[in-house]
Amino acid sequence: MSEKDQTASPTIESILNENRMFHPSAEFAAQAHVGSLEELERWRARGEADPEGFWAEMAQQLHWFKPWTKVLDWQPPHAKWFVGGTTNISYNCLDRHLTSWRRNKAALLWEGEPGDSRTLTYQQLHREVCRFANVLKKFNVKKGDRVALYMPMVPELAIAMLACARIGATHSIIFGGFSADALKDRINDAGCKMVVTADGCWRRGTEVKLKPAVDDALLHTPTIENCIVFQRTGTKVHMEVGRDHWWHEMMATVNADCPAEELDSEHPLFILYTSGTTGKPKGILHTTGGYLTQVALTTKWVFDLKEEDVYWCTADIGWITGHSYVVYGPLANGATVLMYEGAPNFPEPDRFWKIIDDYRVTIFYTAPTAIRAFIKWGEQWPLRHQLSSLRLLGTVGEPINPEAWMWYHKIIGKGRCPIVDTWWQTETGAIMITPLPGATPTKPGTATRPLPGIQIEIQTKDGHPVGANQGGYLVIKRPWPSMLRTIWGDDERYRQQYWSEIPGVYFAGDGARRDEDGYHWIMGRVDDVINVSGHRLGTAEIESALVSHETVAEAAVVGRPDDLKGQAVVAFVTLEGGRTGNDELKQKLREHVAKEIGSLAKPDDIRFADMLPKTRSGKIMRRLLREIAASGVVAGDVTTLEDFSVLEKLRTDEE
Ligand code: WT7
Repeated sequence: MSEKDQTASPTIESILNENRMFHPSAEFAAQAHVGSLEELERWRARGEADPEGFWAEMAQQLHWFKPWTKVLDWQPPHAKWFVGGTTNISYNCLDRHLTSWRRNKAALLWEGEPGDSRTLTYQQLHREVCRFANVLKKFNVKKGDRVALYMPMVPELAIAMLACARIGATHSIIFGGFSADALKDRINDAGCKMVVTADGCWRRGTEVKLKPAVDDALLHTPTIENCIVFQRTGTKVHMEVGRDHWWHEMMATVNADCPAEELDSEHPLFILYTSGTTGKPKGILHTTGGYLTQVALTTKWVFDLKEEDVYWCTADIGWITGHSYVVYGPLANGATVLMYEGAPNFPEPDRFWKIIDDYRVTIFYTAPTAIRAFIKWGEQWPLRHQLSSLRLLGTVGEPINPEAWMWYHKIIGKGRCPIVDTWWQTETGAIMITPLPGATPTKPGTATRPLPGIQIEIQTKDGHPVGANQGGYLVIKRPWPSMLRTIWGDDERYRQQYWSEIPGVYFAGDGARRDEDGYHWIMGRVDDVINVSGHRLGTAEIESALVSHETVAEAAVVGRPDDLKGQAVVAFVTLEGGRTGNDELKQKLREHVAKEIGSLAKPDDIRFADMLPKTRSGKIMRRLLREIAASGVVAGDVTTLEDFSVLEKLRTDEE
């Protein structure tokens, strides 16, 4: 939802009118981990009265080599959870399951886009992880070193993550859709020692190459010593002698004996880059014990995960959703996880539904933007399949429009499956606001209420709570186990970005309101960040990419509401030296952004202008640009605008 939607009434009103309520069925509740509202309220009261006790009880369910001496050490804004305790995530996700019949349970069910498939039991996955951990050691990767993973959706990505976690190397996954430049910046920011990649992968029936981007990036990454290349497509790639090594060749040189390292609860597990309001992406740092505690608990409770389930989260592992809910959360619970390499509409728009029937998927977690695409492609595609194995549906990434929620409920869930709308962020590490499917009555369009042990409030800018149904800023009032610990290499920015805007609390960047039932309605981002297909893009980052092109003098990027993507990227551009824009240049600039950042950030629309609307102090008036991008007219206040003729020109340019 765009900022415009927060101020203009229609969207908010249609949500305000949303009063359909869906109660968990008696049948679902009877078998659920948390099976009634009363039980949930008891947990909530416990989390309220004694949050540390609550989280300690949850952490007990993991394996610790050494118990902690203190649950929480809170020196605002820095938290340490389970102080003094030692554990290992790879041990918790693998070794723990090898002492029972689970060793022969499928951990990963993988399907490639061309239709090839692989199954890895917990025992087999453990073996591969141990071997790759030994490959890391062989190349001198040590505890605390950073390893970049730039890989497609293949089991080897999960194997590489778990291998890093096993020896205490910190991984930094860079989504395969990012460009060579973006990869280079992220490798350098974290000072990675090694990069693990693949030759390519399959997407919509064609090969997408990954290795050439790595070759480009590695021209300017002084800290990288070695590059391991997994062979997925078999395409010919350049292999730099002394630097590049084939995954399968290296795996053949090591044994499978690699005990999990005993790591401090606060040992850095991973860095994941996310967009902020300034040009430079932020390396969000997550650590070990607290992160695992909250992802393990939420996977179990929110998805009501049971031993027999076949669990499918469609997110790419390159995003936080994939880290927490494809790999770490489900494997910590000993689940069977489905992983699919390719596009949802290949060879036809029913690929997901076919996969659900083929593997008898029971739990399905996806994004509203995907649901809107399914709606657009037509219900004939899901209707060709039974979908009778499904018992629970989930969404994440952006607010789900009540219409899309109803379609999901009826056409995919057949009116039978509860829907969990889960609110969280890269920074929160794990789910924060969500229904529990056997307990919480849901309303289409709201993530409902915070998890037990999580304290959230809607506040004014100066830190006062607002009343029911009043919009405000969504803040988190107490530290939580899976919270980010800092921004890699920039603790000052961490303080500034998250803890200084509103006094004494974490500010998430979202606007929200709480209704009379205490349900949270997320109204979207309040900063200069736009949400495209459930992925956060910093407008400043796209602007810098545009300005780095030789023809561009100045650029302003805003979001425009888009039926499919949630928000589309609109760029207003002024050119150097009186040049005039044309379609060819638009195309060039779009390609330039794709090269600088990745295709995800390509502007959907580029408008050339002689000048951008500015205040007298020289600040670009984005609100006006947003209005122009959305509706072509400016209705709001323009009294601070420096030069009124600019607006006229922007409007004419649009025709
Ligand atoms: C932003 C976080 C968490 C993984 C996916 C995105 C928006 C996320 C919801 C939801 C309304 C949501 C927020 C948030 N968002 N989930 N259920 N309802 N909005 O992670 O890239 O860190 O983005 O996504 O605006 O701040 P991310």
